[in-house]
Amino acid sequence: MSAGTPLRLAIVISGRGSNMIAIARACLAGSIAARVAVVISDRADAAGLAGAAALGIETATVLQPQAAGAAAFERTLAAALQGHQPDMIALAGFMRILSGRFVEHYLGRMLNIHPSLLPAYRGLHTHARVLEAGDTEATLSARVQATEHIIYPRVLGWCAQRRLAWREGAAWLDGRRLDTPIVEDFRVAARN
Ligand code: GRF
Repeated sequence: MSAGTPLRLAIVISGRGSNMIAIARACLAGSIAARVAVVISDRADAAGLAGAAALGIETATVLQPQAAGAAAFERTLAAALQGHQPDMIALAGFMRILSGRFVEHYLGRMLNIHPSLLPAYRGLHTHARVLEAGDTEATLSARVQATEHIIYPRVLGWCAQRRLAWREGAAWLDGRRLDTPIVEDFRVAARN
């Protein structure tokens, strides 16, 4: 991967794929210097597969083999990824917990997005557990997703510009070690 070459992305999904679509659109619009080489799902019925295909993106499904463990699944997923030689892997609504071994293998080349701080707030129904007064789970979820659709392409754009990188056991942005989360008020952006 050399500077100036678009970042090759593999996006891994399980369901709707709205984050994947936001990333793919940002690539197609040229607002980030990246290209989605493949969208991989662990569910054959993931709605995002059709959405990716409609954008002309190659798709693949990697299923958990019957009577085989998580390691077998991860080997198949790794082989599918290897076939597309991605510079970065974006997990986007991928509903499986990957092993430490798998994650270590892709250290610095794999991103995830999740609406709560991990590992403090694990599991499902995140929105229900952090509801603000007056919000329903659906409206809070929609607000979070509108923000996610800004954040994820932006962060991948930083990767494509080689501004964000993993080294010495930490994430670095513009030469600054990120020891604390980047905090930004997206409420205005999310409303627009
Ligand atoms: C997103 O809210 C993401 O943060 C979480 O799962 C959801 C996936 O939504 N991990 P989508 O499939 O991208 O629409």
